[in-house]
Amino acid sequence: MENKHKKFIRRSLYLANKGMGEVFPNPMVGCVIVKENEIIGEGYHKKFGGAHAEINAINNVINKNDIEGASVYISLEPCTHFGKTPPCTDKLIEYKPKEVIISNTDPNPLVNGKGIKKLRNNKINVISGVLEKEGKILNKRFFINQEKKRPYIILKWAETSDGFIAKEDGSSKWISCKASRTLVHKWRSEETGILIGVNTANKDNSRLNVRLWEGRDPIRVILDPYNKLEEKTNILNDPSISLIYNNMLNKTQGQKHFIKISPFKLENICYDLYKRGIYSLLVEGGGFTLNKIIEKNLWDEARIFKSQLKFSKGIKAPNIKKNTYEKIGEDKLFKITRNA
Ligand SMILES: NC(=O)c1ccc[n+]([C@@H]2O[C@H](COP(=O)([O-])OP(=O)(O)OC[C@H]3O[C@@H](n4cnc5c(N)ncnc54)[C@H](OP(=O)(O)O)[C@@H]3O)[C@@H](O)[C@H]2O)c1
Repeated sequence: MENKHKKFIRRSLYLANKGMGEVFPNPMVGCVIVKENEIIGEGYHKKFGGAHAEINAINNVINKNDIEGASVYISLEPCTHFGKTPPCTDKLIEYKPKEVIISNTDPNPLVNGKGIKKLRNNKINVISGVLEKEGKILNKRFFINQEKKRPYIILKWAETSDGFIAKEDGSSKWISCKASRTLVHKWRSEETGILIGVNTANKDNSRLNVRLWEGRDPIRVILDPYNKLEEKTNILNDPSISLIYNNMLNKTQGQKHFIKISPFKLENICYDLYKRGIYSLLVEGGGFTLNKIIEKNLWDEARIFKSQLKFSKGIKAPNIKKNTYEKIGEDKLFKITRNA
């Protein structure tokens, strides 16, 4: 049987996950308060700007005196600073639990160990690192944002059984099956941004929005160093926001933002995206763009559909090591996660 600490931290991670899509750029956090092996209160961070998990868990306890001597399980170290809400560490100290068990320390420099230190200074026993890997996976976007000051980057492409992402004439529509394409729309709804290279924007005239799933459209990002994006494209003509990175001009026309980055370096673009609140990016190609990001080591996950089609020649798919796969309709889906 799983030990007690793991069991209740797992519950805190489960609760944290309920905040998915609602709390960013904050991390998802869950909290469980346990007395004599029974959960007496629990809560999670529900909305950005709203109460933190610890406060919701405390509020959930019927008799607040029961918190004295209890064990508090939190998926992330409690905060010590005044943000949109007062520090949770102080609130916990006020209720005198005997111990606090944590999955991850908070990488945010405003916290980063200070919460643990303050609890210990107030004679509360702290254990950290319980199910640490699971906690990091849950908040993978937040950890990359904090540690690397860039969006969490997911590469996505579809390739034929013989490894091509497009034909020689540049046509690539429908390499993957309908079920895979639906899944891609779900993924689009889960990230803040979506990025493509200018050739894909011109050739595919992509809209990059969420149509086969319900949810928010990601913000579109185009890499177009020499302003080759054609006037007729959806990117320039529909009402949605587009960030067009180039090395020539800074200008805003309605919802179209031309952003000059000179020299045109991926690292600088990633930092600029992070500063603009793009905390995660789905990169949907094409080959040149994907290869550049791989070359620069600027990716965290790859999701690759392999279809049963065969092209024999065309634009080669990037070459990264794949192993196990799952079946999505007629396609194989390979998922590669780095540092997990
Ligand atoms: N099967 C799939 O999953 C899939 C997905 C998307 C696209 N596609 C296909 O792929 C084809 C397009 O691929 P592609 O490789 O030709 O083009 P691409 O990656 O869409 O665009 C490449 C262009 O974008 C600019 N660019 C991108 N990253 C850059 C960087 N890091 N630094 C400087 N410039 C950068 C450059 O513009 P400049 O040339 O102006 O310097 C570059 O030539 C299309 O035919 C499309 O249908 C397939």
